[in-house]
Amino acid sequence: SWTPGAFVDLTVSELKEKIGDDKVVLGLSGGVDSTVAAVLLHKAIGKNLYCIFVNNGLLRKNEFESVLDQYKHMGLNVKGVDASARFLDALKGLSDPEEKRKAIGNTFIEVFDDEAHEIKDVVYLAQGTIYPDVIESVSVNGPSVTIKSHHNVGGLPDFMKLKVVEPLRMLFKDEVRRVGKELGIDKELLGRHPFPGPGLAIRILGDITAEKVRILQEVDHVFIQGLRDWMLYDKVWQAGAILLPIQSVGVMGDERTYEQVVALRAVESTDGMTADWVNLPYEFLQKTSNTIINRVKGVNRVVYDISSKPPATIEWE
Ligand code: XMP
Repeated sequence: SWTPGAFVDLTVSELKEKIGDDKVVLGLSGGVDSTVAAVLLHKAIGKNLYCIFVNNGLLRKNEFESVLDQYKHMGLNVKGVDASARFLDALKGLSDPEEKRKAIGNTFIEVFDDEAHEIKDVVYLAQGTIYPDVIESVSVNGPSVTIKSHHNVGGLPDFMKLKVVEPLRMLFKDEVRRVGKELGIDKELLGRHPFPGPGLAIRILGDITAEKVRILQEVDHVFIQGLRDWMLYDKVWQAGAILLPIQSVGVMGDERTYEQVVALRAVESTDGMTADWVNLPYEFLQKTSNTIINRVKGVNRVVYDISSKPPATIEWE
């Protein structure tokens, strides 16, 4: 029967055999799949694995710095690329969800291509594709740095002409987590909630500005940190905050305010295909709402999303 230990041994020796002394480039996302793929490859080929971690400016607060730090501690050969301004620029004026997704996807490809180009003589592109990604076209596993690259034709970015290596393509998510544990990857990293590739851009309804991203990062941070402090984080499959494109009237001291509304969302799920809203304790919601409104300038109202999927989706866009 399948064991993570046997999988690691077999995969590492297969990767060594297949790749030899060639160079491999891999896009890290901070998610479980790309991280496990990177550590497996690192075990097999060491410094010949070149990892690229792109900051699209739409990650959670402090996420880029802290995850990059974790990667470096794990001994990975990783380059952090802060392309926030480039993504923000590509998003300027866009408010349609699919247009935003497209702009982010295209910008990612440009940035990744520029970076991959700087590494001389790369032969392989490694991806953290897992079995559900192979059978469905849409990944529910968050930050997909997954790029369709089976079409080795002209006109594609250079890195897409590379040979593809996908060491996790036969595994389910829980198996990936077990392999990660076997490889000694930090428990916190393996237990992270899924996070969509387009990040906060699809949680800011309407157009994106640096200021909106900043506000949502603060709100999200209060919510997620609260879940951790209240030992609720691991009971929830995915959670986050949504910045609504409306203002509502409030009162602060003697002053009337007219500020943003945020929604909090937390769901239970196994694969993201269906999901139930989580019955978080009222006391937690009360504290979280107070903290957000007191601490985050520009927000005067917090609502909690009590819709399940279907018919609602997990993300609002
Ligand atoms: P929905 O909103 O469709 O989300 O119920 C299901 C799961 O998919 C994630 N999601 C995405 N992940 N790129 C991604 O990498 C996307 O464009 C995207 N849209 C949704 C969502 O976070 C949830 O886990």
